[in-house]
Amino acid sequence: MSEAVRFCGLELDHRVINASGTFDAIAAQRVFGDEIVLRFPFAAFVSKTITLEPRAGNPPPRLYEAPAGMINSIGLPNRGLLGYLEHDLPQLAALPVPLVTNVMGSTADEVARLVEAIDARAEVAAIELNVSCPNVETGLDLGADPRLLGRLVDEVRPLTGKPLIVKLTPNTADVAAVAQAAEAAGADAVSLINTLRAFAAHPDGSGRAWLGAGTGGLSGPAVRAVALAQIAAVSARVEIPVVGMGGIASGRHARQAIDAGATLVAVGTESFRDPLAGERVRLGLDALEHPRAAR
Ligand SMILES: Cc1cc2nc3c(=O)[nH]c(=O)nc-3n(C[C@H](O)[C@H](O)[C@H](O)COP(=O)(O)O)c2cc1C
Repeated sequence: MSEAVRFCGLELDHRVINASGTFDAIAAQRVFGDEIVLRFPFAAFVSKTITLEPRAGNPPPRLYEAPAGMINSIGLPNRGLLGYLEHDLPQLAALPVPLVTNVMGSTADEVARLVEAIDARAEVAAIELNVSCPNVETGLDLGADPRLLGRLVDEVRPLTGKPLIVKLTPNTADVAAVAQAAEAAGADAVSLINTLRAFAAHPDGSGRAWLGAGTGGLSGPAVRAVALAQIAAVSARVEIPVVGMGGIASGRHARQAIDAGATLVAVGTESFRDPLAGERVRLGLDALEHPRAAR
């Protein structure tokens, strides 16, 4: 039996949630019926990233199959804040688990407006801040620099009483330093890893980019070892809970992330192969924790 876990004041049935953008609960219900809601695979649902204005996403091709994972340049297509509040939120609020809304802005002001608007909605249990957006001046991810990220979290922290999870970028020199800056500025938790910046060469051999956006983000089994190293490095330096993700596809992988210091684990790319991967990971984790009961 899974054990309930407290996370940032929320009571969750178990430790397995979804990674943002990799499980569309609304589409899953349309395709698989109410069964997927009744047997909801995750202890909380994390929305895909919401931006202030609607985004169409990147030009195709948007996906590349890597030897042990995939490179995506989906580009965060979404209806924008108003579309989310009007269209998606009522449907996501009907899920049987707490809802985490993931937001991203390219400036502190944009992030502040998103956080304020989401804070006003009682249906949302927690906010996840995606800081993998490129800074317009430096070209680096907003979350790549501890000082800049600290300033951003400092600005938006007072705008919400909901748990604030900062989703760190792995594309930085010292992820633990960034996590510490988020904690010092008042983040309630950090989550990691997001995708690793990656290039897919065109199969025609010309050396040009295959993906429409030029580069993309690598995820899946290929990033698991990097994720474990970063989860361990961050967990050693912060007191706040850590949500671990990156290539988790089995109970054993989840156990490794928890052993590295994660309180919760998130299943991402694996859900594209198996929409019930979350349930499989949870059952596998249970079997490792309670081998007798699972027999
Ligand atoms: C197709 C795709 C879409 C994603 N969309 C988002 C997103 O909207 N927001 C976000 O914070 N992370 C997004 N991610 C990153 C995942 O949440 C996760 O951090 C990453 O893929 C590593 O986990 P995994 O190896 O289990 O997939 C996306 C990943 C993929 C593969």
